[in-house]
Amino acid sequence: MIKIKVPATSANLGPGFDTLGMALSLYNIYTFEENTEFLLCDFLDCYNNDNNLVLKSYQYVFKKLKKTIKPVKITIEQHIPNCGGLGSSANCIVAGVLGANAILGDVLSKEEILNLCVELEGHPDNVLPCLLGGLVSSLKKENGYEYFSYNVSDKLFFTIFIPPFSINTNDARKILPNSYTRENVVYTISHLLPLPKAFEDGNINLLYELMQDVIHEPYRLKLISNGIDLKEWCKVHHLPCVISGSGASMLVISDNENITKEYKTSWQRIVVKKDDKGAIIL
Ligand code: HSE
Repeated sequence: MIKIKVPATSANLGPGFDTLGMALSLYNIYTFEENTEFLLCDFLDCYNNDNNLVLKSYQYVFKKLKKTIKPVKITIEQHIPNCGGLGSSANCIVAGVLGANAILGDVLSKEEILNLCVELEGHPDNVLPCLLGGLVSSLKKENGYEYFSYNVSDKLFFTIFIPPFSINTNDARKILPNSYTRENVVYTISHLLPLPKAFEDGNINLLYELMQDVIHEPYRLKLISNGIDLKEWCKVHHLPCVISGSGASMLVISDNENITKEYKTSWQRIVVKKDDKGAIIL
Protein backbone atom coordinates (compact mmCIF):
# COMPACT_ATOMS: atom_id res chain seq x y z
CA MET A 1 0.00 0.00 0.00
CA ILE A 2 1.29 3.46 -0.90
CA LYS A 3 0.27 6.44 1.20
CA ILE A 4 0.94 10.01 -0.02
CA LYS A 5 0.46 13.26 1.89
CA VAL A 6 -0.14 16.22 -0.45
CA PRO A 7 -0.31 19.88 0.68
CA ALA A 8 -2.76 22.60 -0.28
CA THR A 9 -1.22 25.52 -2.15
CA SER A 10 -1.97 29.16 -2.71
CA ALA A 11 -0.97 30.60 -6.09
CA ASN A 12 -0.34 34.16 -7.29
CA LEU A 13 0.14 35.70 -3.81
CA GLY A 14 -0.78 39.13 -5.18
CA PRO A 15 1.53 40.26 -7.99
CA GLY A 16 2.93 36.77 -8.81
CA PHE A 17 0.17 35.92 -11.27
CA ASP A 18 0.77 32.49 -12.84
CA THR A 19 4.37 32.38 -11.58
CA LEU A 20 4.41 32.22 -7.77
CA GLY A 21 2.85 29.82 -5.29
CA MET A 22 3.39 28.39 -1.85
CA ALA A 23 2.57 25.19 0.02
CA LEU A 24 0.44 25.29 3.18
CA SER A 25 0.23 22.94 6.16
CA LEU A 26 -3.15 21.56 5.18
CA TYR A 27 -3.16 18.14 3.51
CA ASN A 28 -5.10 15.48 1.68
CA ILE A 29 -3.84 11.93 2.15
CA TYR A 30 -4.18 9.39 -0.64
CA THR A 31 -3.61 5.64 -0.53
CA PHE A 32 -3.01 3.46 -3.58
CA GLU A 33 -3.50 -0.30 -3.30
CA GLU A 34 -3.13 -2.71 -6.20
CA ASN A 35 -6.53 -4.20 -6.97
CA THR A 36 -8.29 -6.33 -9.59
CA GLU A 37 -10.20 -3.27 -10.84
CA PHE A 38 -10.16 0.50 -10.40
CA LEU A 39 -11.97 1.61 -7.27
CA LEU A 40 -12.35 5.10 -5.75
CA CYS A 41 -13.07 5.36 -2.02
CA ASP A 42 -14.24 8.30 0.10
CA PHE A 43 -14.22 10.83 -2.76
CA LEU A 44 -17.18 13.20 -2.95
CA ASP A 45 -19.93 11.77 -5.17
CA CYS A 46 -19.20 14.29 -7.93
CA TYR A 47 -15.61 12.94 -8.20
CA ASN A 48 -16.52 9.29 -7.91
CA ASN A 49 -16.32 8.58 -11.64
CA ASP A 50 -13.92 8.02 -14.56
CA ASN A 51 -13.14 11.75 -14.77
CA ASN A 52 -11.59 11.72 -11.30
CA LEU A 53 -8.37 13.71 -11.70
CA VAL A 54 -6.28 11.48 -9.40
CA LEU A 55 -7.32 8.47 -11.45
CA LYS A 56 -6.76 10.20 -14.81
CA SER A 57 -3.32 11.45 -13.74
CA TYR A 58 -2.39 7.97 -12.51
CA GLN A 59 -3.44 6.44 -15.84
CA TYR A 60 -1.71 9.21 -17.81
CA VAL A 61 1.69 8.21 -16.41
CA PHE A 62 1.25 4.59 -17.52
CA LYS A 63 0.12 5.69 -20.99
CA LYS A 64 2.99 8.15 -21.31
CA LEU A 65 5.50 5.41 -20.40
CA LYS A 66 3.69 2.89 -22.63
CA LYS A 67 3.17 0.51 -19.69
CA THR A 68 0.17 -1.73 -19.07
CA ILE A 69 -2.05 0.13 -16.63
CA LYS A 70 -2.25 -1.54 -13.20
CA PRO A 71 -5.68 -1.14 -11.58
CA VAL A 72 -5.67 0.30 -8.08
CA LYS A 73 -7.99 1.19 -5.27
CA ILE A 74 -7.49 4.90 -4.51
CA THR A 75 -8.71 6.23 -1.17
CA ILE A 76 -8.75 9.88 -0.16
CA GLU A 77 -8.64 11.32 3.35
CA GLN A 78 -9.78 14.82 2.51
CA HIS A 79 -8.93 17.80 4.71
CA ILE A 80 -8.61 20.49 2.02
CA PRO A 81 -11.97 22.12 1.31
CA ASN A 82 -13.19 21.97 -2.28
CA CYS A 83 -13.68 25.69 -2.52
CA GLY A 84 -11.36 26.74 -5.29
CA GLY A 85 -8.12 28.61 -4.77
CA LEU A 86 -6.28 25.99 -2.71
CA GLY A 87 -4.72 24.07 -5.57
CA SER A 88 -7.10 21.11 -5.45
CA SER A 89 -6.53 20.09 -9.08
CA ALA A 90 -2.75 20.27 -8.60
CA ASN A 91 -3.23 18.20 -5.44
CA CYS A 92 -5.04 15.44 -7.39
CA ILE A 93 -2.50 15.52 -10.23
CA VAL A 94 0.50 15.30 -7.90
CA ALA A 95 -1.16 12.41 -6.01
CA GLY A 96 -1.95 10.53 -9.23
CA VAL A 97 1.52 10.98 -10.73
CA LEU A 98 3.37 10.09 -7.50
CA GLY A 99 1.03 7.12 -6.96
CA ALA A 100 1.71 5.78 -10.46
CA ASN A 101 5.45 6.31 -10.09
CA ALA A 102 5.47 4.41 -6.79
CA ILE A 103 3.41 1.52 -8.19
CA LEU A 104 5.78 1.37 -11.18
CA GLY A 105 8.79 1.11 -8.84
CA ASP A 106 10.12 4.69 -8.84
CA VAL A 107 10.94 4.91 -12.52
CA LEU A 108 10.65 8.69 -12.90
CA SER A 109 13.24 11.34 -12.00
CA LYS A 110 12.20 14.39 -9.98
CA GLU A 111 12.34 16.50 -13.15
CA GLU A 112 10.18 14.05 -15.10
CA ILE A 113 7.59 14.04 -12.29
CA LEU A 114 7.59 17.80 -12.27
CA ASN A 115 7.15 18.12 -16.03
CA LEU A 116 4.39 15.50 -16.13
CA CYS A 117 2.49 17.32 -13.39
CA VAL A 118 2.81 20.70 -15.15
CA GLU A 119 1.80 19.09 -18.46
CA LEU A 120 -1.36 17.73 -16.83
CA GLU A 121 -2.22 20.96 -15.00
CA GLY A 122 -1.34 23.36 -17.82
CA HIS A 123 0.39 25.88 -15.53
CA PRO A 124 3.03 25.48 -12.82
CA ASP A 125 2.13 27.84 -10.00
CA ASN A 126 0.28 25.32 -7.80
CA VAL A 127 1.93 22.12 -8.98
CA LEU A 128 5.51 23.16 -8.16
CA PRO A 129 4.99 24.20 -4.52
CA CYS A 130 2.70 21.18 -4.09
CA LEU A 131 5.56 18.90 -5.13
CA LEU A 132 8.45 20.81 -3.59
CA GLY A 133 6.98 22.65 -0.58
CA GLY A 134 7.74 26.25 0.40
CA LEU A 135 7.51 29.30 -1.83
CA VAL A 136 8.32 28.58 -5.46
CA SER A 137 8.51 30.71 -8.61
CA SER A 138 8.62 29.27 -12.09
CA LEU A 139 10.14 30.24 -15.38
CA LYS A 140 8.80 28.87 -18.66
CA LYS A 141 11.58 27.88 -21.02
CA GLU A 142 11.51 26.40 -24.52
CA ASN A 143 11.62 22.91 -23.02
CA GLY A 144 9.79 22.72 -19.72
CA TYR A 145 10.12 24.89 -16.63
CA GLU A 146 12.85 26.07 -14.33
CA TYR A 147 11.91 26.77 -10.73
CA PHE A 148 13.33 28.77 -7.84
CA SER A 149 12.58 28.03 -4.18
CA TYR A 150 12.61 30.58 -1.37
CA ASN A 151 12.43 30.28 2.42
CA VAL A 152 9.32 31.42 4.23
CA SER A 153 9.61 32.69 7.80
CA ASP A 154 8.23 30.46 10.51
CA LYS A 155 6.73 33.57 12.13
CA LEU A 156 3.97 33.79 9.54
CA PHE A 157 0.40 32.53 9.93
CA PHE A 158 -1.82 32.06 6.90
CA THR A 159 -5.57 32.36 7.38
CA ILE A 160 -7.65 30.92 4.57
CA PHE A 161 -11.11 32.48 4.35
CA ILE A 162 -13.52 30.27 2.46
CA PRO A 163 -16.80 31.67 1.15
CA PRO A 164 -19.84 29.43 0.66
CA PHE A 165 -19.46 29.50 -3.14
CA SER A 166 -16.73 28.61 -5.61
CA ILE A 167 -15.40 30.13 -8.82
CA ASN A 168 -14.42 28.16 -11.87
CA THR A 169 -10.77 28.92 -12.77
CA ASN A 170 -11.59 29.12 -16.50
CA ASP A 171 -14.29 31.72 -15.81
CA ALA A 172 -11.90 33.63 -13.56
CA ARG A 173 -9.32 33.69 -16.38
CA LYS A 174 -11.76 34.70 -19.11
CA ILE A 175 -12.58 37.98 -17.41
CA LEU A 176 -8.94 39.16 -17.41
CA PRO A 177 -7.68 41.63 -20.04
CA ASN A 178 -5.38 40.40 -22.81
CA SER A 179 -2.95 43.27 -22.39
CA TYR A 180 -1.84 45.70 -19.70
CA THR A 181 -0.39 49.20 -19.67
CA ARG A 182 3.32 49.82 -19.13
CA GLU A 183 2.38 51.47 -15.84
CA ASN A 184 0.75 48.23 -14.65
CA VAL A 185 3.72 46.16 -15.81
CA VAL A 186 6.18 48.38 -13.92
CA TYR A 187 3.91 48.31 -10.85
CA THR A 188 3.89 44.51 -10.94
CA ILE A 189 7.65 44.08 -11.42
CA SER A 190 8.42 46.51 -8.60
CA HIS A 191 6.05 44.71 -6.21
CA LEU A 192 7.11 41.20 -7.15
CA LEU A 193 10.89 41.57 -7.05
CA PRO A 194 11.28 42.14 -3.27
CA LEU A 195 8.44 39.74 -2.36
CA PRO A 196 10.52 36.56 -1.71
CA LYS A 197 12.78 38.54 0.65
CA ALA A 198 9.74 39.82 2.56
CA PHE A 199 8.47 36.22 2.93
CA GLU A 200 11.89 35.07 4.10
CA ASP A 201 12.09 37.85 6.69
CA GLY A 202 8.45 37.45 7.75
CA ASN A 203 8.14 41.21 7.33
CA ILE A 204 4.38 41.83 7.57
CA ASN A 205 4.58 45.56 6.82
CA LEU A 206 6.59 44.95 3.68
CA LEU A 207 4.36 42.03 2.65
CA TYR A 208 1.37 44.35 3.05
CA GLU A 209 2.96 46.91 0.71
CA LEU A 210 4.08 44.35 -1.85
CA MET A 211 1.07 42.05 -2.06
CA GLN A 212 -0.97 44.49 -4.09
CA ASP A 213 -1.95 43.46 -7.57
CA VAL A 214 -3.23 45.13 -10.73
CA ILE A 215 -3.15 42.10 -13.05
CA HIS A 216 -6.00 39.92 -11.78
CA GLU A 217 -7.40 40.99 -8.41
CA PRO A 218 -9.32 44.13 -9.51
CA TYR A 219 -11.26 42.01 -12.02
CA ARG A 220 -11.78 38.92 -9.89
CA LEU A 221 -12.80 40.68 -6.70
CA LYS A 222 -16.07 41.50 -8.44
CA LEU A 223 -16.81 37.76 -8.51
CA ILE A 224 -16.29 37.37 -4.75
CA SER A 225 -19.13 39.02 -2.90
CA ASN A 226 -17.93 40.36 0.49
CA GLY A 227 -14.31 39.83 -0.59
CA ILE A 228 -13.88 43.59 -0.60
CA ASP A 229 -15.11 43.75 3.05
CA LEU A 230 -12.35 41.37 4.09
CA LYS A 231 -9.83 43.46 2.12
CA GLU A 232 -11.03 46.63 3.89
CA TRP A 233 -10.77 45.01 7.33
CA CYS A 234 -7.24 43.85 6.52
CA LYS A 235 -6.33 47.34 5.32
CA VAL A 236 -7.30 48.77 8.71
CA HIS A 237 -5.10 46.15 10.43
CA HIS A 238 -2.32 46.47 7.84
CA LEU A 239 -2.47 42.76 7.01
CA PRO A 240 -1.71 41.38 3.54
CA CYS A 241 -4.89 39.98 1.99
CA VAL A 242 -5.05 38.40 -1.46
CA ILE A 243 -7.29 36.19 -3.54
CA SER A 244 -5.88 32.68 -3.19
CA GLY A 245 -5.16 31.43 -6.72
CA SER A 246 -8.16 32.31 -8.85
CA GLY A 247 -10.47 32.32 -5.79
CA ALA A 248 -12.96 32.15 -4.34
CA SER A 249 -10.95 31.55 -1.16
CA MET A 250 -8.84 34.40 0.15
CA LEU A 251 -5.56 34.37 2.05
CA VAL A 252 -4.61 36.70 4.90
CA ILE A 253 -1.10 36.75 6.34
CA SER A 254 -0.27 37.72 9.91
CA ASP A 255 2.42 37.21 12.52
CA ASN A 256 -0.21 36.62 15.17
CA GLU A 257 -2.28 33.43 15.16
CA ASN A 258 -5.40 35.01 16.62
CA ILE A 259 -5.84 38.38 14.94
CA THR A 260 -7.89 37.12 11.98
CA LYS A 261 -10.43 35.61 14.41
CA GLU A 262 -11.52 39.20 15.15
CA TYR A 263 -12.99 39.54 11.65
CA LYS A 264 -16.69 38.70 11.90
CA THR A 265 -17.83 36.57 8.99
CA SER A 266 -19.93 33.54 8.14
CA TRP A 267 -17.11 32.32 5.86
CA GLN A 268 -15.14 29.29 6.99
CA ARG A 269 -11.71 30.15 8.37
CA ILE A 270 -8.65 27.89 8.65
CA VAL A 271 -5.33 29.05 10.11
CA VAL A 272 -2.27 27.21 8.78
CA LYS A 273 1.50 27.63 8.50
CA LYS A 274 3.80 27.16 5.54
CA ASP A 275 4.64 23.63 4.40
CA ASP A 276 8.33 23.07 3.63
CA LYS A 277 8.31 19.46 2.47
CA GLY A 278 5.80 19.28 -0.38
CA ALA A 279 4.14 16.00 -1.28
CA ILE A 280 5.67 13.06 0.58
CA ILE A 281 5.27 9.30 0.53
CA LEU A 282 4.51 8.27 4.11
N1 HSE B 1 -2.62 31.27 -11.51
C1 HSE B 1 -3.92 30.75 -11.88
C2 HSE B 1 -4.88 31.89 -12.03
C3 HSE B 1 -4.55 29.88 -10.83
O1 HSE B 1 -4.80 32.82 -11.24
O2 HSE B 1 -5.72 31.81 -12.92
C4 HSE B 1 -3.75 28.86 -10.25
O3 HSE B 1 -3.06 28.06 -11.14
